[in-house]
Amino acid sequence: MLTVSNLSVQFGKRILFDEVNATFTQGNCYGIIGANGAGKSTFLKIIAGDIDPTSGHVILEPGKRMSVLNQNHNMFDEHTVLETVLMGNKVLFAIKKEMDELYADYSDENADRIGELQLNFDEMNGWNADSDAASMLSNLGISEDLHYTLMGEVEPKLKVRVLLAQALFGNPDVLVMDEPTNDLDFETIGWLENFLANYENTVLVVSHDRHFLDAVCTHISDIDFGKINHFSGNYTFWYESSQLAAKQRAQQNKKAEEKKAELEEFIRRFSANVAKSKQATSRKKMIEKLNVNDIKPSSRRYPAIIFDQEREAGDQILNIKGLTATAEGDILFKDVDFNMAKGDKIVVFSKDSRATTAFYEILNNNLKADAGTFDWGITTIQSYLPADNHHFFTEDLTLVDWLRQWAKTEEERDEVFIRGFLGKMIFSGEEALKKGSVLSGGEKVRCMLSRMMMIRANVLMLDEPTNHLDLESITAFNNSLKNFKGSVLFTTHDHEFAQTVGNRILELTPNGVIDRYMTFDEYLDDPKIKELRTKMFS
Ligand SMILES: Nc1ncnc2c1ncn2[C@@H]1O[C@H](COP(=O)(O)OP(=O)(O)OP(=O)(O)O)[C@@H](O)[C@H]1O
Ligand SMILES: [Mg+2]
Repeated sequence: MLTVSNLSVQFGKRILFDEVNATFTQGNCYGIIGANGAGKSTFLKIIAGDIDPTSGHVILEPGKRMSVLNQNHNMFDEHTVLETVLMGNKVLFAIKKEMDELYADYSDENADRIGELQLNFDEMNGWNADSDAASMLSNLGISEDLHYTLMGEVEPKLKVRVLLAQALFGNPDVLVMDEPTNDLDFETIGWLENFLANYENTVLVVSHDRHFLDAVCTHISDIDFGKINHFSGNYTFWYESSQLAAKQRAQQNKKAEEKKAELEEFIRRFSANVAKSKQATSRKKMIEKLNVNDIKPSSRRYPAIIFDQEREAGDQILNIKGLTATAEGDILFKDVDFNMAKGDKIVVFSKDSRATTAFYEILNNNLKADAGTFDWGITTIQSYLPADNHHFFTEDLTLVDWLRQWAKTEEERDEVFIRGFLGKMIFSGEEALKKGSVLSGGEKVRCMLSRMMMIRANVLMLDEPTNHLDLESITAFNNSLKNFKGSVLFTTHDHEFAQTVGNRILELTPNGVIDRYMTFDEYLDDPKIKELRTKMFS
């Protein structure tokens, strides 16, 4: 129903897509995967008609409607919640807007045009649009008192629900989503998984989240080597079968029959595991078709993330007294008293992501606390990876010039020196000369990491560091933090990251903090802490 034919995309010398042909069939959910910068967002933008390919076509079956959930969750900050949903039906919204403008400047001349517009508006059931949008929001758990709030003031996890309502407004035949689980808490991700598993129309979703992909996908579409390849089955099946293919490829001496037997055994085991699931039959069909020779070892690469300290910090790292923050009338955290010791790697945790983000923003002087004080030790050098990095990329600089902004010495301003940092983050050759404004989500985070490496801080603050990153980068990042000799404050929804890096948990609540030296799992499992948490949040 959605077909891509002979699609090619090229930026400068770089060929992103080379004569791609692919069909997305009615009712399937395609998980689109690939390394950071492979071209996933670009592909979705071409499908949505936002940008043109170098050559080739996208064909949507006539009469079908497609809608898109944007990767940029802050795009509608200036609009109210209800208006944001209405904007989901672009044609209708444009008619309404023109009508409103003409009414405001009413004359005999524009009366005709108004009549024309009204006819279209009637046909599209426009008079019910507001109430349709309102009931859609309510179904997604957005209460009526929020419908006229500006999007910029809505908490992130609810924001994504509003954007989803926008995408679903008017019941599209094809729903396209770019990294929908970023900025979401575990609970809302679970809610979205459930929603998509029961959604009957076609879905194309880009994600780096293994658990999410396994929960919702009937197919995996891998973008690599300038092509898109579909595999039926979920992410785990794709991953394990491609690992097996790579292994078999390396075993030159093994006979073809032996390889075939091994593959059949793998398929048998895998089908037994998924037999309970309703997708089992379609998976089996695919499994019969699977041909290991089609799977090439992937081109994904690991960035070299190494955090060095310019100097070791003294014993005084950070002291916080009575810190309190509120947002839109809610208490985010109150009376935070806390002393950070040298070498602490602290998971800053909260039920509300606004609380953790406000905590970092206050410590970095981007936001004023409602009460309380904090003091950084004089020997500390801090660097901060914010959850939202878009204001770092507003100027149109090449990556070399961009990173040079944080050079401290003449030597560091040198192009060769800077290219060294960029090279570690897999921006080599021409790639180092592209503009910050064209970077993919994951590439922006890689730039932010180059910046942090260059600052050589002894205290790192990381707000949702794994957002946007591909699995190779997350693994490299995770290892580098385990080995880092300085101190770290971080917040993540990546369980493995929290468990393997953190040695102390600091939970921010509206009634003070819970502060424990233990691992993340110990914290979550401890029955006494569970009881305490219920009390602190009540
Ligand atoms: N206008 C442009 N000019 C030059 N390069 C561009 C342009 N637009 C995108 N690119 C490059 O194309 C590549 C693909 O970008 P895209 O945003 O599609 O990646 P992605 O697969 O979505 O990555 P991520 O997982 O990080 O979101 C990136 O290397 C990006 O820098
Ligand atoms: Mg992207």
